[in-house]
Amino acid sequence: MTQPYYKSHWIEIEPERHVAYDDLLKFHPAMERLLEPLELRPGLKVLDVGSGPGHTTIALAQRVLPGGHVTGVDINAEFVKRSGDRARAAGLQDSIDYRRSEFPPLPFADCSFDRVWCKNVLEYVDDAGATVAEMARVTAPGGIVVAVDSDWAMMAVELGEASRQMTNRILEAAKSIAVNEPQIGRRLFHHFLAAGLQQIDVKVFASPDRKGLMAGMLRNSIARYAVDSGKVSAADVQRWLAELDQAQAEGRYLFLLPQFVVCGRRPAASISGE
Ligand SMILES: C[S@@+](CC[C@H](N)C(=O)[O-])C[C@H]1O[C@@H](n2cnc3c(N)ncnc32)[C@H](O)[C@@H]1O
Repeated sequence: MTQPYYKSHWIEIEPERHVAYDDLLKFHPAMERLLEPLELRPGLKVLDVGSGPGHTTIALAQRVLPGGHVTGVDINAEFVKRSGDRARAAGLQDSIDYRRSEFPPLPFADCSFDRVWCKNVLEYVDDAGATVAEMARVTAPGGIVVAVDSDWAMMAVELGEASRQMTNRILEAAKSIAVNEPQIGRRLFHHFLAAGLQQIDVKVFASPDRKGLMAGMLRNSIARYAVDSGKVSAADVQRWLAELDQAQAEGRYLFLLPQFVVCGRRPAASISGE
């Protein structure tokens, strides 16, 4: 069966895209605030759902040592290999393991983890609600689930009047194939409610990027998705990328992609009531 693009582009990743993700998905100090709701401390068992290149998995492990452990799970075999190498290079091979698996379902027993974390993944899965339900299932009673996701439908890019129409065409073309649930950010808390999670808290971080910190996502992901959609020609996308460079150099670039951070707790008594 042919897989939809939102999934197939994660199963097969060309070497140059791996290099780009290694950079794009680095853990940086500004992400510390995303981890806060997890209330990490030494000794906890954590699951990183859709662990990608594994930079954040390492940040999670460093916060649960000594005594803690992190498991990463991802659909892409090369990510699993690379993140294992990265954990070994950081001397964390005894505190992190990786599993290659598509989800949902998650390949773990009920109540296996104290904390479950999932960042920028749920827009790509076949069923975000079922995945959040799985995240709740594998969380121990009293444990915490945190999902961080962009709301793609709120994505705004402004380079100026001359390229506004093309910018909007490219964003729409990219979104039409790259994600299964473009409004995932705003919908996350409903998935948490449906999964029986409690004490749900929603935060939104939305800083306009004027320095080009996020431009890598436009260059490496959005541009490629737009071409792959067949709705914009490769030549038009190349011209737009040149305009992006120019706008950035002249201080005319602005990118906004709100990130929703949703946190919930599995009730101390089992959610299935048994
Ligand atoms: C944008 S990356 C985010 C990676 C990581 N969470 C981070 O923030 O650095 C999305 C990740 O989700 C994984 N993914 C997407 N759909 C998946 C699925 N159905 N099952 C398992 N993993 C999936 C991809 O392979 C990729 O590693």
